[in-house]
Amino acid sequence: MRLQKFLARAGVASRRASEELICQGRVSVNGEVVTELGTKVDPAHDVVMFDNHPVRLEQDHIYLMLNKPAGYLTTMSDPFNRPTVADLVPVDTYPGLFPVGRLDQDTTGLLLFTTDGELGNILLHPRHHVDKCYEVWVKGILSDTSARKLCEGVDLEDGRTAPADVRLIKRDKQHHQTHLLLTIHEGRKRQVKRMCEAVGNPVVRLHRRSFGPLALGDLTEGSFRLLGDKEVSALTNL
Ligand code: URA
Repeated sequence: MRLQKFLARAGVASRRASEELICQGRVSVNGEVVTELGTKVDPAHDVVMFDNHPVRLEQDHIYLMLNKPAGYLTTMSDPFNRPTVADLVPVDTYPGLFPVGRLDQDTTGLLLFTTDGELGNILLHPRHHVDKCYEVWVKGILSDTSARKLCEGVDLEDGRTAPADVRLIKRDKQHHQTHLLLTIHEGRKRQVKRMCEAVGNPVVRLHRRSFGPLALGDLTEGSFRLLGDKEVSALTNL
């Protein structure tokens, strides 16, 4: 990027006025005063100073999704050195990255990461009702009555759950399991497991398919990808 554009983007002065500042010898790059207008800088690596004060571009926030495998804790560090999701995302490239919410150690699927603390807080606030769709395998054959209870609300120790959406995929008599999709709008601790336990069908396996407008798609387990512009606007528009 041209130096005058860099200075203008960083809010030092307009592009034209920045050119004058350069000509006046008030700008240095990597310790050397630069007076040539065509000089190019790499915002990620070069140290630009104006009147001996460092000039930085506002860093854009980063948004990425991980397809979390089982066996990883949702935390950025663990005092016991157990595997954590921080092992799977580029924390060195993007310092300040943190997971938005959590998945249990044995839960797989979509986990959103960002450096944008404000958006993270908004998405996690119970008032904002972000839909989370889980693929759930439970023990036993889920009765219509239990499915209705999951849908209408289950009494848990921290209160009745809000209405949820339940779709049966398969009542598997052979393996004595039921496969279903459960979409909840709240984000209480271990909510899906506690809801299914409460109706007598403990969870065998849990996988998050989507989080608000974001869907995992064909992202392979253990991989991450940066969100596209459209996905980021869909999140910020929620
Ligand atoms: N509900 C749970 O019980 N566990 C998770 O990991 C996510 C939702």
